[in-house]
Amino acid sequence: MTIETIGVIGAGTMGNGIAQAFAAAGYSVVLRDLSTEALDKAMGTVRGSLDRLVKKGTVAAGDAEATLARISPTTDISALADRDLIVEAIVERLDVKAAVIKELDAICGERTIFASNTSSISLTSLAAHSAHPGRVIGMHFFNPVPVMALVEIIRALQTEDWVAEAVLEAAAKIGKQPKAAKDSAGFVVNRLLVPYINEAVYVLAEGLATAEDIDAMMKLGANHPIGPLALADLIGLDVVLNVMDTLVDGFGDPKYRPSPLLRQMVAAGWLGRKSGRGFFTYG
Ligand code: CAA
Ligand code: NAD
Repeated sequence: MTIETIGVIGAGTMGNGIAQAFAAAGYSVVLRDLSTEALDKAMGTVRGSLDRLVKKGTVAAGDAEATLARISPTTDISALADRDLIVEAIVERLDVKAAVIKELDAICGERTIFASNTSSISLTSLAAHSAHPGRVIGMHFFNPVPVMALVEIIRALQTEDWVAEAVLEAAAKIGKQPKAAKDSAGFVVNRLLVPYINEAVYVLAEGLATAEDIDAMMKLGANHPIGPLALADLIGLDVVLNVMDTLVDGFGDPKYRPSPLLRQMVAAGWLGRKSGRGFFTYG
């Protein structure tokens, strides 16, 4: 099967970038969130990202307008019923994702593939909540989506071959580099990256250096493009915490224990860029 139409569910940090990536490659995209405010913000972010690319000269102004026009924002879940591929990018919680799978099961047809952008949750457990587990797969994009080349493709135990083939083809068509990862908590990149970020929060809480210096040291000493605390702010502290919790659950190993400071900041609503305050503040 060749995927021709896309649905994206969740228009937050990741969902709007995923919608942009598919629309830029010519796909028609229905983008669903719960409120018009969330959708307006998402469309503003896509416009901002396209403006950057136009200013840089990598995208023509007309192509940017055409990309925007291919994204249809909606709060109505039934607008996703006819989509070939639905990419889910809502909160990193199995119960909430499972509820959305059930909602989609009730409205979607035989052709619809459900791909989750989960950062760490087991695709096999997620697929078990679907009436069509063979059509569930992980399609893990990286933030910021318009810039990052990788998409981890994670097959659930139940995923059918044609589903994996169709999703690999679609990822390549939007110019990404798909790589397969096994269905294990955190997959490959987040198993390595998120414990590193969590350790940086311990280092901050222990007073080894200031937040600014911790980030500066990793940029100057390890040539990272961005420090771990600014990266946590970019990802969202709630997402970082949920990934650490999934690693603890998945491996039962205390080495993945989330930093108490990280948990406190999430409790305070200091989620990083998306809330205006995390380890740093944003205008
Ligand atoms: N849309 C379009 N272009 C964008 C963009 C966006 N949203 N954000 C950045 N860019 C482009 C800029 O235009 C710029 O392009 P040029 O170099 O060609 O001029 C380039 O990206 C760099 O941007 P900036 O100069 O503004 O800032 P920067 O040099 O600090 O780069 C960054 C920003 C790309 C985010 C860089 O800091 C970076 O790569 N950081 C690491 C990101 C990372 O590790 N992501 C993975 C997070 S983990 C994850 O996503 C998985 C998960 O499940 C949690
Ligand atoms: P976010 O909090 O920025 O956005 C989530 C959006 O989903 C919100 O706009 C919310 O209103 C919406 N939403 C919630 N329930 C919904 C529903 N039933 N229908 C439609 N919309 C709904 O979250 P995010 O950072 O974009 O993360 C989304 C997913 O992507 C998570 O599973 C996360 O682990 C994963 N992920 C995040 C990153 C990252 O860097 N933030 C990177 C890769 C993967």
